[in-house]
Amino acid sequence: MAYKDVYDSWNQDPNAFWMQAAESIDWDKKPSKALFDENAPLYEWFSDGMVNTCWNAVDRHVEAGRGEQTAIIYDSPITHTKRSISYVELRNRVALLAGALRAKGVEKGDRVIIYMPMIPEALEAMLACARLGAIHSVVFGGFAAHELAVRIDDAKPKCIIAASCGLEPGRVVHYKPLLDGAIDQATHKPDFCVIFQREQEVAHLEEGRDVNWHGFQYGVEPADCVPVEGNHPAYILYTSGTTGQPKGVIRHTAGQLVALNWTMKNVYNVDPGDVFWAASDVGWVVGHSYICYGPLIHGNTTIVFEGKPVGTPDAGTFWRVISEHNVKSFFTAPTAFRAVKRDDPTGEFVKKYDLSCLKAVFLAGERADPDTIKWAQDQLNVPVIDHWWQTETGWAIAANPLGIEELPVKLGSPSVPMPGYDVRILDEAGHEVADGQLGAIAIKLPLPPGTLPNLWNAEARYRKSYLDHFPGYYETGDAGMKDEDGYLYIMARTDDVINVAGHRLSTGAMEEVLAAHPDVAECAVIGVADKLKGQMPMGFLCLNTGADRDHGDVVKECVKLVREQIGPVAAFKLATVVDRLPKTRSGKILRGTMVKIADGESFKMPATIDDPDILDEIADALKGLGYPAS
Ligand code: COA
Ligand code: AMP
Repeated sequence: MAYKDVYDSWNQDPNAFWMQAAESIDWDKKPSKALFDENAPLYEWFSDGMVNTCWNAVDRHVEAGRGEQTAIIYDSPITHTKRSISYVELRNRVALLAGALRAKGVEKGDRVIIYMPMIPEALEAMLACARLGAIHSVVFGGFAAHELAVRIDDAKPKCIIAASCGLEPGRVVHYKPLLDGAIDQATHKPDFCVIFQREQEVAHLEEGRDVNWHGFQYGVEPADCVPVEGNHPAYILYTSGTTGQPKGVIRHTAGQLVALNWTMKNVYNVDPGDVFWAASDVGWVVGHSYICYGPLIHGNTTIVFEGKPVGTPDAGTFWRVISEHNVKSFFTAPTAFRAVKRDDPTGEFVKKYDLSCLKAVFLAGERADPDTIKWAQDQLNVPVIDHWWQTETGWAIAANPLGIEELPVKLGSPSVPMPGYDVRILDEAGHEVADGQLGAIAIKLPLPPGTLPNLWNAEARYRKSYLDHFPGYYETGDAGMKDEDGYLYIMARTDDVINVAGHRLSTGAMEEVLAAHPDVAECAVIGVADKLKGQMPMGFLCLNTGADRDHGDVVKECVKLVREQIGPVAAFKLATVVDRLPKTRSGKILRGTMVKIADGESFKMPATIDDPDILDEIADALKGLGYPAS
């Protein structure tokens, strides 16, 4: 069948389409129907089915005779370690870990925060929660204690599973002190913490609260899989919104199973047994969907890679891993390829490896610039597929579905909507715009299985952020257009979210931190274009009258504050002191205009600007920081 036929078959009968896809999942009790729309505009999928994620991701492959197949390959150039875990080993390890968690009181519905680096134990912890029906929330290692504390207070975990440390090139990330600090800051206290001691750093355990990963599993009964309702939350993943309070995206169990399993063949074109590698981190949605759940549910081999695209040890790392582990389909962020291209523009490292196993490359997380795609196409000689999605959706909204049909690639476009997504481009009043015209990208409700049904503890925020602006639609927060062939183009965010090295960050959250500096009266953070990372945050600080401080010192303190409060991942390094910020007459800061000046783009003087002269002052301050960059 061609893409168009598959899309049309979904459009004609979504229930039948998803019930058919659900046949590939092992159910304890089959659902009576796919869509549950009784509470529209809140929708759920497969709610009355009973099912277990861990069974589908692990045990069923063992039962089907694939127990000896490798489930996880751990490849860590940072620690010079390589190790494989078969499906039967994974089953045994996860059942024991789940048994130990259960013995300490973790049950279906309890929350468990996981704060771990890229080691197989992170996946084992996720799967052990899934086995019990406990709801995990993985927190990225690049966030600081405060961010972890905010998540602890929102998710209220019974237990936190953490590693003693993470490893960044040239730096040990001391997870345990960060964890202790976060628990101190948080109002909610977990009953207990499980600490995986890495040999690179053995952490101090808090008597009475912390248990050792290995020790607490000793002598316990392995746990069986607990069937849960189709609409039972499988996990909460916090993502950046407009304020410092992150949004807790909920993923339901059955929708995730059905949707991710469908994508493995239809989008990524891999069959059970093939090796699939997503070079991301378990702390992000890509790590949830395509390092852990998708490949394992589908019976693939997944790779847990603890390293960077460059410098661990060189720009050939990706190619070594692909060639050594026989990777068929590879997923990364454009920024990673830009880093490799910068170090090895002519692909000298590519030539060193036999990459005949590689059949396709997928890019997501940020806009894929045509130069980077062309470079990858030239170097690798396989389809290089841009695809567009969000933490909220959990899987691709738009892609070139290689397992159905390889559509012509149009540079700058993540191709076409996937079945389940009816994508429309709307003007401010909610009317569809003509092909080729820019507008807000919205998706007609309901969203498909596997996407967010709600936000954790925040239904009002869910409705306000996504549903209220365009009734009947989900508002993606992205702006863009559609061409006459139905290809989508994703151009910019419509909110205060920026994308730094494929990491989604909130400028609003950074402004909250800066505003707390005693000398800062007012501030604005914008995302400026960056050749490597796509965007970089830049802060403008107005100081209190009478703050007679060296501006350089204040800037340094502010940079330190963001690193301490949000974490190194914010990559907040650029800031400057200005007398005033450009505003509209009603007092709204003109961030969009500031971005245009910083990026050297032409702009129209906003009609509502209060004092146009301030823009010259901003341009001068930007020059001082070297912007617009040449
Ligand atoms: N734990 C702790 N710190 C982390 C971290 C983690 N898991 N991940 C990143 N950091 C730190 C980095 O060490 C860096 O710290 P520094 O300021 O002390 O140098 C900071 O956060 C910023 O990281 P990053 O923006 O990733 O920049 P980088 O200079 O380390 O690397 C790239 C640049 C382009 C090589 C890198 O960003 C990259 O490969 N990104 C891949 C993007 C990706 O996979 N995104 C996931 C979405 S699909
Ligand atoms: P995250 O939730 O971290 O996955 O970030 C989602 C956001 O990243 C989207 O809303 C887009 O702004 C951006 N994004 C992700 N993939 C793409 C893509 N292929 N092209 C353009 N932007 C993308």
